[in-house]
Amino acid sequence: MYDKIISANKSFIDQTWEKLDGKLKQVAVRSRDKIPYTTVNGVHDDRQGKSISWWTNGFWGGLMWLMYLGSKNEEYRITAENAERLMDAAFANVAVLHHDVGFMWHIMSGANYRLTGNAEARNRNLLAAMTLASRYNISGKYIRSWNGDMAGWTIIDCMMNIPLLYWASRELGDPRFEKIAVAHADMAMRDHVRPDGSVAHIVSHDVENGDVIETLAGQGYAVGSSWSRGVAWALYGFVLSYIHTKKVEYLDTAKRVAHYFITNLVADDWLPIVDFRAPEEPKRYDSTAGAVAACGLIEIAKCVPEGEQKIYLDSAIKLLRAMEERFCNWQDDEDSVLQMGTERYNSDGKGDHIPIIYGDYFFVEAILKLRGEEFLAW
Ligand code: GLY
Repeated sequence: MYDKIISANKSFIDQTWEKLDGKLKQVAVRSRDKIPYTTVNGVHDDRQGKSISWWTNGFWGGLMWLMYLGSKNEEYRITAENAERLMDAAFANVAVLHHDVGFMWHIMSGANYRLTGNAEARNRNLLAAMTLASRYNISGKYIRSWNGDMAGWTIIDCMMNIPLLYWASRELGDPRFEKIAVAHADMAMRDHVRPDGSVAHIVSHDVENGDVIETLAGQGYAVGSSWSRGVAWALYGFVLSYIHTKKVEYLDTAKRVAHYFITNLVADDWLPIVDFRAPEEPKRYDSTAGAVAACGLIEIAKCVPEGEQKIYLDSAIKLLRAMEERFCNWQDDEDSVLQMGTERYNSDGKGDHIPIIYGDYFFVEAILKLRGEEFLAW
């Protein structure tokens, strides 16, 4: 079934890859000395300097490794290696680092090490893993997300950071890291994912025993609403935890979240809106949620029996096709591909409908998966 669906969509997959490579090989050279987040008038910005600890800073290097993997073009590798060196500045101030060290290093240095065996990249990824493990609250049994006075807060996004811990356990032959990841995933499955497959972005816990104090809207519309990128983080994050641990509850959770996500896309036009439970107007999209979810749906399709594959793989492809048609910018002289990302619901218009670097990252990752690439960056 899986291969049949891929064959039926082969020209879309191949043509989209050709367009990605045709454009990004030029961007790789133009933005070589930057750590981009978004674009200004079509040109990548640069998060070096005081923003070097920003959570998205690994996506550029990660994107370059994915493009290198798919094309073997050395220009991508050179830019990826440079991004990693530029990011070393973030290790100079560990006190400001946060749980997003998985996003920042595992898909960049972790990918480099797994692809090339580079010892410096391994060391960077181990530093990141040790930083993440150090955020574990032993009595509460969760990884704290942010710094400051939010010691009891967890956010669903962390499901994408814990693959770094699974890797560290395997790499060092030491189960400590994986045990922390599993304890956190169990908490997220219980406290963040609702029975209907929607997800609470933030949960505030009692720091002494982990009890839930309250859930918060976070980047979504309101308490009890359904921020689509948070749903996508859970969808992809739980199937990743399943792949690393083989705990069936994680796959079942990923499927439940996927069914909720797909239902909300079908109800609309296969383009993800920012919050599935926000007022219908004004209509605001978030392409990044779609790109993350597409990656997770493809991985679920690979994990389930053949008779179950169609709904996940078909949905991923419908979503990617809709975004390719409506949201992609193929102009060579502009630096980003996927447009219409949105940072959060309540933004007063700032950060709405903009290109965001992880949109390009996950869009490329999804297309590469459809091309049959088996390397799992997470
Ligand atoms: N991890 C923060 C976000 O998804 O915007």
